[in-house]
Order: sequence, then C-alpha cells, then structure tokens
Amino acid sequence: MKVLVIGSGGREHALCWAIAKSPKCDELYCAPGNAGIDQVAISVPIAIDDLDAIMDFVTENGVDFVVVGPEGPLVAGLVDLLEAAGIKAFGPNARAAEFEGSKGLTKDLCAKYLIPTAEYARFNEPDAAKEYIRAHGAPIVVKADGLAAGKGVILCRNVNEAYAAIDHIMTESAFGEAGAEVVIEEMMTGEEASFFALVDGKTALPLVAAQDHKAAFDGDEGPNTGGMGAYSPAPVVTPDLAARVMDEIINPTIRGAAAEGRPYKGVLYAGLMMTEKGPQLIEYNVRFGDPECQALMMRLESDALELLLACAEGRLDEYQIKWRDDAALTVVMAAEGYPGAYEKGSEIRGLDKAGKLKDVMIFHAGTHEDDGRIIANGGRVLGVTALGKTIKAAQKRAYEAVDLIDWPEGFCRSDIGWRAVER
Ligand code: AMP
Ligand code: GLY
Repeated sequence: MKVLVIGSGGREHALCWAIAKSPKCDELYCAPGNAGIDQVAISVPIAIDDLDAIMDFVTENGVDFVVVGPEGPLVAGLVDLLEAAGIKAFGPNARAAEFEGSKGLTKDLCAKYLIPTAEYARFNEPDAAKEYIRAHGAPIVVKADGLAAGKGVILCRNVNEAYAAIDHIMTESAFGEAGAEVVIEEMMTGEEASFFALVDGKTALPLVAAQDHKAAFDGDEGPNTGGMGAYSPAPVVTPDLAARVMDEIINPTIRGAAAEGRPYKGVLYAGLMMTEKGPQLIEYNVRFGDPECQALMMRLESDALELLLACAEGRLDEYQIKWRDDAALTVVMAAEGYPGAYEKGSEIRGLDKAGKLKDVMIFHAGTHEDDGRIIANGGRVLGVTALGKTIKAAQKRAYEAVDLIDWPEGFCRSDIGWRAVER
C-alpha cells in the first residue's frame, strides 16, 4: 500500500523507519520530511498546514493511508478531509483533537466523568481570573487554553507571578487567540510519565509508557523545551499503576468522549503526574510524544503499519502488540541556544559512524541535506536512540553514539534517564 506520513520531526522519522519495515508498505512518502527521513521515504515539499496541497497530493498519487504526526493538522481537520474523501487516516478528527486544542475542554470532561486531575477553573476575563488566584493562593498553574507550541503553561510560585501570567496570556495576548481563555489549576507534585494508548473508537490498547525530560539543561534545570530526551519503559509506571491508569483515566475518557459526540481514534497521549493519591491527568495530547515516540518505535516488535492500520480501521480488539524486552533511550541534540534563538546552517559530521553502532538509530528532527552534507535546520536536530538490556545500558550506548557525532554548534544533556538509573 501507499502510505503518507505528515510531519518532519524525530517522531516522524521514527514512524517512517518503523512503517518502512512492513512488508505491506509498497511506497512511503513524508510531507515535508527531513534528511534522515529521505533514507527511508520520499520527502515531498508540502507544509503540514497546507491541507489543500496534502489532499491534492494524496488524490493525485493514490495514497491509501495517511499517518498524521503533529497536532496542528489534526486540530485543523486533516483527518476529516481524508475520511470524507474515502482515504484511511491515523489520528483523531477535529472534534476529538480538541482535547489537545482546548485544555478547558479536557478539564470539563474530567470533571464530568470523574477522571482524577488537578482542581481547576476556566476564565475568559482577566479580573475574574485574578480574583480566583487571590482566593486560592499559590503555588498555582496558569495555562492558555489553546495550542501554544508547548509554551502556554506557567507554573507560578507566588500570587504576583500568577497575576503576571494572566497579564502575559490574556492582556498582552502572548499566545494570540490561544490565550483568550485560561485554565487555572492547583499545582500537583510527583513524578511525571507519558502514557500512550491506541484507540479505535471502541477499544483502547495500552502501549508501553515512557518518560521525557522537558527542561533544557542537566539536572532538569533551565527553560522548558519540547523534550531533550526520553526513555521507555518508565519505571514509575508499574504494571499495577498502568492498570489503574487504564481503569481510572483512559477508559472513562474514551467512554466520555464518545458520549460527548467526540469519539476518539488514534493515539491518546496522557501526560500523567504520579501523585501520592495515585495517577492524575495533567493533560491530553492527540498524537505521539516527541521524543518519546522514538524510544517507543525502537522497542516495537510488531508490524507498525499493520498496527496503525488496525487502529484506523477499528480492529484493535483482535490485536496483541509485541514489544522487545529491551529498554530504549533517546538523547536529543539541539542547536546551541534552543529553546531560545538559535542558528541554522551548521554542518553535522560523524553520523555514519555513530549510526553504525549496534542497536543505535539516529533519528533526524531538524536537518536537511545539501550536496551530501547534513545541515542543521531546526532547534531540536537529532534524536540519538539506543537499545539496551536496561535503561542504564541503553543510556551508555546512546552517549557512545553522541560522542561520535561531530557538531560543535549543537548541545545535549548529559544525564538523560538519570531518575530511572538512580532507582
Ligand atoms: P502541559 O503542557 O499541560 O503538559 O504542561 C507542561 C508541564 O507543566 C507539564 O509537563 C508539567 O511539568 C507542568 N504542569 C502542568 N500542569 C501542572 C499542574 N497542574 N501541576 C503541576 N505541574 C503541572
Ligand atoms: N515530549 C513532549 C511532547 O511531545 O509533547
């Protein structure tokens, strides 16, 4: 079959790499792709938000199945367009994608279906928001309701910071329309984990859990990023806790979403806080996490294309996923300056040598090829991913590969996986 993957990050390279291994995959395209994706798929220069161009490409080339990586095109309704045209798609439609597109909507669902999460309130008016903050005190969390490229969450240690967050989001419109409404939440404490389940509208099938490191620097210090590294399994999510997450969070969500006229299909990514009271939902994403997806795809033994297709076609009840026992760990290499301002255009050397290490894959995020040279073209640039018998062994191998990569303009954290290794 002919498959098109939408996106250009490490997540999409990992998805393309896994899908390309399937005997069912005859032709694989990726829009817009990157230099790493070029090695397993045909990159087509179409932007992820150009839904018309994507639809034209799909119909002109007889694409059978589209796998959507990032949330933007899901929230914009790409899956709705594809399904209306009779083309199979992996991912939720626009109504179901709103669980990522509106944090308030997810919180209301949690309240109605008794899904454990932080106490909250929604506001579209700054004075009322500040009044609530005054009444509740700090610490407190202020969030823009809509999509804000992962920057719309402000953790406030005191009330003045929370007032400033309201001004920033609502009065100064730092995130545009996404901040017309805010969600204010109680601050939860605990260890975080990323929990993934495939959902076909009826059946929810848990995948393995992962953990990522959002902070830019060692020791989980510095500004938040899209993720500087990840590993799977997540030791904090024991089998007992995973069963509780399915019973208390994922399954009630799937039933609630269907009851609200937003039946969910695709991968549901629950950001969890493992608190003293048990697992609590931080938020939903309607896509795979990145870099978590890179570690997941390395551990997946089942045919990725068959699995995603079974999800799209509502056949998950007949599916049993096979995973490797090995752990996987991803170290993200980013351009110096990320998540702030950074330069593009530097050359990366040593990738061939590093990629030849056993059980290592170097997934590309922001790269392009110029005359045989690999050039940095984004903030997060590479996801150096390795397998190992334990997380510690995977960590050692991933950093061996990192050491072979010659890219003076880049940096990475040197402690990815520390929490799991210390356990
Ligand atoms: P989100 O974009 O909602 O996942 O939030 C980004 C990060 O902010 C999360 O990964 C948490 O570290 C933190 N966070 C969000 N909401 C809360 C909360 N209610 N309590 C504590 N930390 C939170
Ligand atoms: N790694 C966090 C995310 O994909 O949102």
